[in-house]
Amino acid sequence: MSSYHLTTFGCQMNEHDSERMKGMLEALGYRESPQRDGADLILFNTCSIREKADTRLAGHLGEASRLKSEDPTRVVGVGGCWSQSMKERVFQEFPFVDVAFGPGQVHKLAEFLTSDSIGAQGYFEFEGFTGHLPARRERRFQGWVQISVGCNCVCSYCIVPSTRGREVSRPAAELVAEVERQAAEGVREVTLLGQNVNSWGRDLRTGEKATFAELLGMVDAVEGIERVRYTSPHPKDMREDVIRAHAELASLCEHIHLPLQAGSSRVLKAMKRTYDRERYLDRVAMIREMVPDCAISTDIIVGFPGETDAEFEETMEVVEQVRYDSAFTFNYSPRRGTAAAGLDGQVPHEAKRERMGRLVDAVQRISTERAQRFVGRSMDVLVEGPSRTDPSRLRGRIRHNKTVNFTGLARPGEIVDVEIAAATSTTLAGEEQLRVA
Ligand code: SAH
Ligand code: SF4
Ligand code: F3S
Repeated sequence: MSSYHLTTFGCQMNEHDSERMKGMLEALGYRESPQRDGADLILFNTCSIREKADTRLAGHLGEASRLKSEDPTRVVGVGGCWSQSMKERVFQEFPFVDVAFGPGQVHKLAEFLTSDSIGAQGYFEFEGFTGHLPARRERRFQGWVQISVGCNCVCSYCIVPSTRGREVSRPAAELVAEVERQAAEGVREVTLLGQNVNSWGRDLRTGEKATFAELLGMVDAVEGIERVRYTSPHPKDMREDVIRAHAELASLCEHIHLPLQAGSSRVLKAMKRTYDRERYLDRVAMIREMVPDCAISTDIIVGFPGETDAEFEETMEVVEQVRYDSAFTFNYSPRRGTAAAGLDGQVPHEAKRERMGRLVDAVQRISTERAQRFVGRSMDVLVEGPSRTDPSRLRGRIRHNKTVNFTGLARPGEIVDVEIAAATSTTLAGEEQLRVA
């Protein structure tokens, strides 16, 4: 039996795609090798969102090249966004690669492996959903559901539209059937995935058309699904019906990830985000009004070309105003083929560093403060496994998506009550409330 080793980089969509790759490989009779050097098939599912992603991958590819020269019968495969963005150059620059494919061509890996082809092969069309392939889930009780692929936005800094193609939605009936299947297999929490989930459904045929809020209702209704999450929504498409769903649907979690990117309307316009600061803050106000305890998280880019000190201060103002439960902060990184990469006024490294330092301080202070509201409360925790820092304790997540480390007796997959005793910017700590029968 042949073995494979797969390394995954990037976002949750790539984690999803990797679970499908594993499912497909295992259906072909491959088994997973814990070590790269023990594998016949060395695979990478790559990301290219920022330059750092590329440099990290380079080291791994170097090792794959060495392993291949030690044993030329090994097969090296590279899938995902980096691969797609390098489709013209991958075989020239990385001659040890046998098969390269984009996010829309994962199924072609099977074709390659079962054919007698000896030459290097590249597959880069946008077709099909990885979500149609069999999955091997990392956790029995948590499932990803790919509701759409691609992105029709043109955010000027972003490489994703070129690596994942135009947006295509999967019909609701198919998605509900998939969630039902997962529930029957023991899944209790599903995360709906798309680059822009709340524009889901607009491209479906008449008769199949539905809104994202309607889809949420259908998924909530599936027996056995106790938690529903989704990522990422786009502020421009964040409508009242979706926010209301958080208040009305029992399984839809009290957490919304609402990527801000920048607090200045001028910068947002240059980013082609198609909302301004007022519209964004208006969405936040609606969330606070309808779902008062909702956690809000975000993504912020520091040092977009042309961002002035005063414009950065506007980002700081929005952060202070919204009071995020958590935020991912990124230094702007020019990406090949994107509009912003060619703009004048690239912000010097030192200015980015200074701005980032201040932003991270504010984000951490606010998330620590926000987390204190859980102290003394009893929270529903979905148990994920042992604590990463202390294996005698357990780890899980509350509906608001915060990680909790706690003492208790529960098993992974169970939902238990945990009394929260302490909170930091990133984690909560507490004790399981044992139910007396
Ligand atoms: N489709 C999702 C995720 C996009 S990628 C969305 O729109 O929310 C995740 C985050 O990476 C983005 O929200 C953005 O903050 C960041 N990002 C994307 N391109 C970047 C770049 N060129 N430089 C720095 N950060 C970037
Ligand atoms: Fe990139 Fe913008 Fe699409 Fe998100 S919405 S994937 S940031 S182009
Ligand atoms: Fe995800 Fe990276 Fe592609 S963030 S969509 S894997 S470029």
